[in-house]
Amino acid sequence: MSLIETKNLTAFYGDFQALFGVDLVLHPGETIAVIGANGAGKSTLMRSIAGVLRNQPDAIRHKNEPIGALAAPDVMARGIALVPEGRRLFPSLTVEENLLVGRYGRKVDGPWSLETVYELFPILKERRRNPSTALSGGQQQMVAIGRALMSNPEVLLCDELSLGLAPVVIKDIYAAFPRIRETGAAIVIVEQDIAQALQVADRVYCMMEGRVTLEGRPADLDRAEIHAAYFGAETHELA
Ligand SMILES: Nc1ncnc2c1ncn2[C@@H]1O[C@H](COP(=O)(O)OP(=O)(O)OP(=O)(O)O)[C@@H](O)[C@H]1O
Ligand SMILES: [Mg+2]
Repeated sequence: MSLIETKNLTAFYGDFQALFGVDLVLHPGETIAVIGANGAGKSTLMRSIAGVLRNQPDAIRHKNEPIGALAAPDVMARGIALVPEGRRLFPSLTVEENLLVGRYGRKVDGPWSLETVYELFPILKERRRNPSTALSGGQQQMVAIGRALMSNPEVLLCDELSLGLAPVVIKDIYAAFPRIRETGAAIVIVEQDIAQALQVADRVYCMMEGRVTLEGRPADLDRAEIHAAYFGAETHELA
């Protein structure tokens, strides 16, 4: 049984086609990574699943029900939460208010509440009355993750958590993932950092120019294969 399944998923920005028939499966409790270079279509794929971009109903299924045409709030209400690229916090709200926004999207009891999000990221408790803009980039990313968790999602979509953050901060953020997995949530990690993705994911999808070019378990993929799927066969001649 799949939790999320895309079938022949396409996406357009006006006349520009960004996805060309993407097939992806996410099983319950699984963590998958989607890797690929700038412009490969990773965010477009996340935005499509999250309902930010609308699609054909059948192109995306949740528990075998068509959700491709649902709007973002309806997708969120089904337990699919997006941590968007660039965090997109509300600058005029405090840390705690930003976290509570996630709660309004889906009021379902589960493992996550202000209390448990603060256990996961203790620094956020200390800074809970501060405006989100007063936080460091890493702390803001923690708020963005916490906000998504507040809806007690079954599926957590994370778009480039490590963007613009120092390695030590990235490590802190990924340290939270075992705990998130323990709650049974399925996770999609979008990363440009291949090593990071291979480390956390049960399975990896590689995308290039709007298509899935490789899929498999980290242990079954070799570096050359990943390199070709990520950069294309020609890249070494350009370098
Ligand atoms: N709002 C938009 N309007 C027009 N084209 C867009 C828009 N957003 C993305 N694109 C284009 O769609 C393609 C896929 O972009 P997308 O943001 O999904 O890539 P990505 O893999 O997330 O890249 P990155 O790693 O830089 O975040 C790119 O060619 C991009 O220029
Ligand atoms: Mg992106």
